[in-house]
Amino acid sequence: MKSMPGSLTLAVCALVVGLIGCSGPAGDGKTGKPAQPSEQAKAKPSDQRSQPPDKNAQPKKPTDTEPDKTKTPAQPTPGEKPQPPETPPRETPPEKPSQPAEPQQKPEPQEKIGARMSKQVYGKMPDGTVVDLYTLTNSAGMKVKLITYGGIITAVETPDRNGKLANITLYRDSLEDYLAGHPYFGCIVGRYANRIAKGRFVIDGVEYKLATNNGPNHLHGGVKGFDKYVWQASPVEGDGYAGVVLKHESPDGDEGYPGKLSVTVTYTLNDQNELKMEYVATTDKPTHVNLTNHAYWNLAGAGAGDILGHVLMLNADRFLPVDDTLIPLGEPRSVKDTPMDFTSPKTIGSRIDQVEGGYDHCYILRRSPDEKLALAARVVEPKSGRTMEIRTTKPAIQFYTGNFLDGSITAAGGNISYEKHYGFCLETEYFPDSPNRPEYPSTLLKPGQTYHHITVHKFGVEK
Ligand code: BGC
Repeated sequence: MKSMPGSLTLAVCALVVGLIGCSGPAGDGKTGKPAQPSEQAKAKPSDQRSQPPDKNAQPKKPTDTEPDKTKTPAQPTPGEKPQPPETPPRETPPEKPSQPAEPQQKPEPQEKIGARMSKQVYGKMPDGTVVDLYTLTNSAGMKVKLITYGGIITAVETPDRNGKLANITLYRDSLEDYLAGHPYFGCIVGRYANRIAKGRFVIDGVEYKLATNNGPNHLHGGVKGFDKYVWQASPVEGDGYAGVVLKHESPDGDEGYPGKLSVTVTYTLNDQNELKMEYVATTDKPTHVNLTNHAYWNLAGAGAGDILGHVLMLNADRFLPVDDTLIPLGEPRSVKDTPMDFTSPKTIGSRIDQVEGGYDHCYILRRSPDEKLALAARVVEPKSGRTMEIRTTKPAIQFYTGNFLDGSITAAGGNISYEKHYGFCLETEYFPDSPNRPEYPSTLLKPGQTYHHITVHKFGVEK
């Protein structure tokens, strides 16, 4: 499928290793959680074992949008339950338009900086730092917009089967709105995407403590993760593609992680409708790294309703059952004969009611030994005909169905309220809690090594 811009010469390290392994002892669910490790451990063995956690057994999970009124964050940290107040008060949305309006952006002048890209000022941080918006276009009429704050992808505009463009990624209207709070829409997540149990890990006998910003656990890099920094950007353009190179340096001790980490994330859009995300990181001390992009998708258009009718195929026959705080119980389980099975295409909604709270699980990708950029997922939205295919060098993908969206996050001047299941995420990642699970593919990065991963989203239409 891909004739990607530039070379795909991967220095991809130990992917294969982990894909075969993962045979550690079953988790004991002792994560400090009050509730039981879910129905997996109980009742109807054959069926239940591969089921996601029992709703009734779960305490209230961290939500993306519920502010914790007991804390006052230095920075707004959208969404995570035990987290601060980042979300704006629920607005009373006016009647929803059948076609959501486009975001109202300030009319900043656009600077054409290449044949297929332009740049404009998007806003200013409270300290005056300018945040830029880059717009990438391709010969097929596709557009990708991204901002230097958090490396957030604010728009992916693709045509439906009638050629009508829509922004198919969930967005907010302005920098002020992003700063006010959002559940990781479109951003770069790091140092560690997903959860680390109890916010701690040990390297070479030394314990490192991280923020527990999601119930008892650490999520998405902590209180001020990579999603809340303004990245240094430089445009790149070549034959058939345009992109932006984003750089960020995370100091030793940042959010509790050891080592100074230098990170480069490059987004490019090519004429084959491929959006490529390339992640490179190096460190000066051993540390853990797991980078991803957290885009929420709705191939019918952001705000156009729920995503339950999308048809999904996941190239994964195993997933990680989790406890009540979404920490893996232990070893992967087969998806066979369970609602977790997307090995052949089916609608996201077909069995979601059998999955406690909705899908929020890590799937372990199938990949042949010599396959680096392996197929991870294929999604079709039947009404618009839009399709999205994801390939990645990473070992797993987190499938999350926007379970914590509750309508409090809005866009299009209030015409859109993102309700539960209005978007889904497919986050290419390592496994959650890998720093504490020697049996999982390792996320440890040492000095002299390079973390290097690629994920490609290819967009299309089905007639
Ligand atoms: C997690 C969800 C979380 C969401 C937003 C996803 O990656 O799996 O549990 O609510 O991010 O923070």
